[in-house]
Amino acid sequence: MLIKKMTNTIKTLFAEERGILAMDESNPTCNQRFIELGIPVTEENRRAWRELILTTPDLHHAIGGVILFDETVYQQQHHGASFLQLLRENNILFGIKVDKGMQSLALHPLEQMTSGLDGLRARLNTYAGLGAVFTKWRAAVSITASLPTLACIEANADALARFAALSQEAGLVPIVEPEVMMTGTHNLDRCREVTTQFLRAVFRHLNQQEVVVETMILKPNMILPGVDCPIQDDIDIIANTTIACMLETVPAAVPVIAFLSGGQSGDLASARLNAMNLRDSRIASTSDDLKNLKQTLPWQLAFSFSRAIQFPALQLWGGVHEHKKAVQDAIYRRVCDNQRARRGVYQQ
Ligand code: 13P
Repeated sequence: MLIKKMTNTIKTLFAEERGILAMDESNPTCNQRFIELGIPVTEENRRAWRELILTTPDLHHAIGGVILFDETVYQQQHHGASFLQLLRENNILFGIKVDKGMQSLALHPLEQMTSGLDGLRARLNTYAGLGAVFTKWRAAVSITASLPTLACIEANADALARFAALSQEAGLVPIVEPEVMMTGTHNLDRCREVTTQFLRAVFRHLNQQEVVVETMILKPNMILPGVDCPIQDDIDIIANTTIACMLETVPAAVPVIAFLSGGQSGDLASARLNAMNLRDSRIASTSDDLKNLKQTLPWQLAFSFSRAIQFPALQLWGGVHEHKKAVQDAIYRRVCDNQRARRGVYQQ
């Protein structure tokens, strides 16, 4: 297996506390975001938006890699040079979302399962030939009083593991993304309980498929109360609970945990990541949960945000080309804020 290549990919992606910018929204998701902001839904606008992101001056200071959607891989800048060429020139690695989205889970109409394994080996070889060095697969579960079911957790964990095995076979670092969604009224403890269950299942399946966890990236949710929960815990409680959950479930051999943002605001996502990276204050805390925390965590705690980086800028853009400078300033500010959060020096 191409272990050395994958190890180098991970080193490069996260060197100097850089992180990953996720811009791999499928066309329906990207279109929906445009509709909400009154931006005309056209292929040209999707292209223009992605050009704005990728041409942000000095993006590579804080971003080691971008996750693309298939359409973007083949798109070009307005003057004709390809996006892939631009990324190469700026020393930004690219990866690709290879799942095909979620479908309703058989016999469980309220739940969903990620599809895309059919034909995946051939698609991976195509992307590797185009220069991709990593891949992403997202499996999302929702919380209600009776969900998720074991069926949903197990089916999605199995697909994640089979995706990861196929990616590693092709020398592509898999970003394994099991997401517990923040929609709902559940509290922090319930999110922790479901996330623990999901992550345990994911690592059990990864182990069964003999995935090399040293050359994968885990992209989980932070442990958060549901958006409609009346108790919204403070930043330190969220950071500490998230770390405690990861220590219970994620093997020390995993090199990087790169969180998704899941619908958090840009500021909150950075502040919570920052709190997780503030080792010393965590250790000094009196919370029972923290007494046994190690001084040094086994993995890097990084970011692979989409909405928490893109949303403030997308609102400024509104489809208007003249807003370019303000938009790119906003993107640059957010990616640097997240790099500072990795260093534990972010201030709101
Ligand atoms: P969010 O950061 O918006 O949750 O997105 C993560 C992701 O992987 C998008 O494709």
